[in-house]
This record gives sequence, structure tokens and C-alpha cells, in this order.
Amino acid sequence: MNAIDEMAAAQGVAYMDGTYMPLAEASIPILDRGFLRSDVTYDALHVWKGRFFRLQDHIDRFRASIAGLRMALPHTDEELIGVLMECVRRTGYRDAFVMVMCSRGVQPPGTRDPRLCRNRLYAYVTPFLWIANEEQRRDGLKLILAKTQRIPAESLDQRIKNFHWLDLTMSLFEAYDQDAHTTVLPLADGTVTEGPGYNIFVVKGGALATPDRGMFEGITRRTVTEIAADLQMKCEIRPVRVEELDDADEMFTATTAGGITPVSSYNGRPIGDGRPGPVTRRILDLYWRRHDDAAFTTPVAYDD
Ligand SMILES: Cc1ncc(COP(=O)(O)O)c(C=O)c1O
Repeated sequence: MNAIDEMAAAQGVAYMDGTYMPLAEASIPILDRGFLRSDVTYDALHVWKGRFFRLQDHIDRFRASIAGLRMALPHTDEELIGVLMECVRRTGYRDAFVMVMCSRGVQPPGTRDPRLCRNRLYAYVTPFLWIANEEQRRDGLKLILAKTQRIPAESLDQRIKNFHWLDLTMSLFEAYDQDAHTTVLPLADGTVTEGPGYNIFVVKGGALATPDRGMFEGITRRTVTEIAADLQMKCEIRPVRVEELDDADEMFTATTAGGITPVSSYNGRPIGDGRPGPVTRRILDLYWRRHDDAAFTTPVAYDD
């Protein structure tokens, strides 16, 4: 490899419909409906200290998303896992962010019928990704309730992981305009859903609550509910009303790209004493400890 190739490979590795390549070289055809129509689903995984976290759970969820969009891939689970393993192996990364996508594909000329497309598998691996920077992770995120509503489940089943992200993206501009970092989006019924790339938890009187509707069912969220059960801490999956956020003792976000992140201010006011709270810190600690547990992790076979 020459210096430029090495630099490109250092950013990550992609798998595009049968071929491995440096991430910088990966591109999709402009006529792919994944691009033209957001007609694509995906899953996001991570590797920590050389081990995939909850690999089979992600594969199962990816398959459910594919089925939900009436797509199909010829790959067995073993083959899908093989592709992801190979991407990670080629990067050599011990801590990695892994994306796997199934796109409707390119439609044959002269038709708009999505059934005539051959669905395509894409994947890529980059160094591990954090949704919040170091300072935000230490001090907590400044969160606002967005005016933008989340696309409702009646329009799009949010359990199917999707790139219909303009509600989430535009809400971020609301946050930036108010000198905040990020948002949580409501539904018309006065409940909250999730934010740009994460689920949300509210802590009140030592009990946890997370929304049950209008959001993607995150694997980090599932992990948090399991940790809470181990701790015999009350944790409810139920409608969470906007007013509950005004009154929370603690709040945190949950996602693959960075795990648990404390929220320290809401709509410009500090939550509690404005520092990450004890429940959040405990769950964050146990979340990362789960990454050393063979029951939740699958090792990558690296070259060295
Ligand atoms: C909109 C949205 N909600 C929630 C999540 C959290 O899901 P997970 O914990 O499986 O990463 C994500 C993750 O990408 C997301 O994009």
C-alpha cells in the first residue's frame, strides 16, 4: 500500500455488495433507492476491547428491520457475521463502530416498482464513535425538548431502523440555536420519544422510566433495563409525558455510539445539582462492565 492507501484504510473498511475496500473508496450508485428514497434499513453495532457486544441481538434486529421493509438478503446469519468480522479484522481496530445496511437497491430502467430491485448488503467499520465529546460525557449533555415532533408510528414503524432522520437532524438546529447540545422529540399526544441517535431515560425517586412508543427499541436501552432488573431497581417502559422531564432527578441517553451519557441540563435549567447523578453513574459503570462478560460478547479473530 502507498501512503495514500494507508491513510484511506486507516479511516476504516467497507464491504459494498460483495467487495471489501478502504472506507474512503466506498460509494453507492446514485440510482440506489437507499439514497433516492431512503429505502434502506440498517443496524449499528460496536466492538469493544476486541469483542462484539450483543452481536446476535443486533443480527436478529437487523433481520426484523429487513423483513419489516419487505426486503430479503440471501445471506445466512453466519455469512452476515462473517462480513462484519472480516471488516473489523481488516481494520485491526479493538474499539470499533460497525454499520450494516440493507438497501432496496437499484431499480431496472423504466420502472419504479421496488419489488424489481435486488436488495444489497453494505457495511463499514470506523474507529469507535461517541455521540458526545469527552467534556459532555464528564459534565453531562445540555438537552432541550424539540418543537419538531418525531415522525409518528402511524407513518413509520420506528422499530424498523431507518434513515428518515430529517426530524432528528432539524431538531439539532433548535438545540444549537439555544446553546444546547441535543434534543428529545415529542409526539402530538404530549409524550416524548427519543433523540438524534439515542433512547432516553428519566430517573425520579430512584425509579427509571423510558418511553414505550414512537421510538427505536435500542439494544443499549434493553441492556439498561436488564441492569436495572439486576439491581432490583424499578424500571418502567411506558408512555413518558413531557412534564415528567421538568421534574426529573436525573436523565441520561442510551445508544451503541457511546453507551450511557448523562444529561445535566434540560431546557436551560440544571437537572438536580447539574452534575451526573448517582443512578446514571451506577448504570454507566455496569453497562461498561458488561463488556467484559463472555455472555454478552463475541471475540473478533484478528491476525495478531
Ligand atoms: C433514533 C435512534 N434511537 C435509538 C437508538 C439506540 O439504539 P441502540 O442502543 O441499539 O444503539 C439509535 C441508535 O442508533 C437511534 O438511531
